[in-house]
Amino acid sequence: MHVVMVFREKLPRQDVAITFNDVILIPDVTCVEPIDVDVSTKVSKNIQINIPIVSSPMDTVTEFRLAIQLARLGGIGIIHRNLTIDEQIEHVIKVKESQPFNIHFEYIKPNDDCFKILKLFKDLGVENLPVIDDYGKFLGIVSKSDVIRNLNDKVYKIVRGVKSLDPLCRVEDIKKYIQETGLDIVVFTDNQGHYKGFTTIWDIYYEKPFIPVIDDEGKLRVGAAVSPFDYERMLKLCKYVDLLVIDVAHVANKKIIESLKKIEKDINIDLVIGNLGTYNCTVEVITKLEKIDSVRVGIASGSICSTGVITGIAAPTLWAIAQVADALYDYGLKSIPVIADGGIKNPGDAVKAFTVGAWCIMLGRILASTLESPSPVIIIGNKKYKYYRGMASESARAKRFAIDRYGRKVKDISEGVEGLVPYRGTLEQVVKEFVSGIQASMGYIGARNIPEVWIKGKLMLVTELGRKEIEPHSIYLQTQD
Ligand code: XMP
Repeated sequence: MHVVMVFREKLPRQDVAITFNDVILIPDVTCVEPIDVDVSTKVSKNIQINIPIVSSPMDTVTEFRLAIQLARLGGIGIIHRNLTIDEQIEHVIKVKESQPFNIHFEYIKPNDDCFKILKLFKDLGVENLPVIDDYGKFLGIVSKSDVIRNLNDKVYKIVRGVKSLDPLCRVEDIKKYIQETGLDIVVFTDNQGHYKGFTTIWDIYYEKPFIPVIDDEGKLRVGAAVSPFDYERMLKLCKYVDLLVIDVAHVANKKIIESLKKIEKDINIDLVIGNLGTYNCTVEVITKLEKIDSVRVGIASGSICSTGVITGIAAPTLWAIAQVADALYDYGLKSIPVIADGGIKNPGDAVKAFTVGAWCIMLGRILASTLESPSPVIIIGNKKYKYYRGMASESARAKRFAIDRYGRKVKDISEGVEGLVPYRGTLEQVVKEFVSGIQASMGYIGARNIPEVWIKGKLMLVTELGRKEIEPHSIYLQTQD
């Protein structure tokens, strides 16, 4: 069956710039269990991701740590551009040099008391742990059962010598090692026997859908943000990165399009064009540029954006997606993925975005709140926070203009704010909970995958009072930030 999609008609009103908070998703008859929902999608024409999450290229969101962990979980990180070209490439290389699975760095010492180390076994949930001497050399492993049998002894009495592997070995080598030895951990050392961490059986047999996103060589995938005028950065990054993201608030600008036209034929990796906000702007861009592998959509909805307040300009993400997706369909370009960017607060917003044509979502604030984002955890009173700022905030702009000689200061006003967001824990905890929420939402709709949400997802306007009713209410909440 050929389905003719007009995403704008899925918005309850077309004369209003509908945003996430204006609408609810309507449940439908379903036989889809959330656990069976397939959330894999594409971030760009040639890059498949296993969960629909892309990180914002912001200096308080995506550096190598977050990009590594997000790719391990099945999404993709975009390294920000408030860095020199060499620094940005270093972050990319760190991602590429990381293994697609978690590596733990805990260990025990030969003179530790057996009794004392039992808690470490419990915390890590493993049956074996590596033993390291004072010079960082790997001595062998001890097993939990041996420790329990020898509670009054020191560790060195029960160390068992085992082979270690190279930290850059392939997952297949690790699986083979585990099959041969029956151990639940694999220890890595360099060629002089220095300890480089360990991984566990639980880290390499992935739990669907959190399957690492890797390139043809088995390396984690990663993207990087660039200015449309910075050819040097683009061409250098092309050698290392999987995806280039044009990072401007409003790409439908004739000078920017001219600049991209000059360089597009030299870009041999996927290119994300954005941000876009309206049907007309999309038509302008898609009729002028040849190379568009994905579009980033939404203007002024981001949690740290002040563009709307200062300039009065906005293309709220939900409304903008419908506009852009329709333009792509009308011009025969429906295979170009649409990334919903800005203002996504919860999994329901992500599914609302899919309903009007998005393929995946870009998250800033939610990921800034995790352990792996660049800011340290800040403790105020008994609460933990992380620092988060807009890339057009005064301080972020100051840094960019100091570093980026292609950064063109075409306006003298900041369009972003900075502040603190509550700390939420590790990226893994936050992402897994978020994806479960997406699967639950798609289950209510009866959609087994994201393309089915494009067809089955239905939105309805909700009143101010209705919105209050569907939020927790009439109760004093126990935990509030
Ligand atoms: P969330 O809501 O996920 O939004 O925090 C992140 C997105 O916001 C955009 N962004 C900005 N927009 N001024 C803006 O108007 C800024 O300073 C700014 N910094 C980031 C960007 O699209 C990001 O992905």
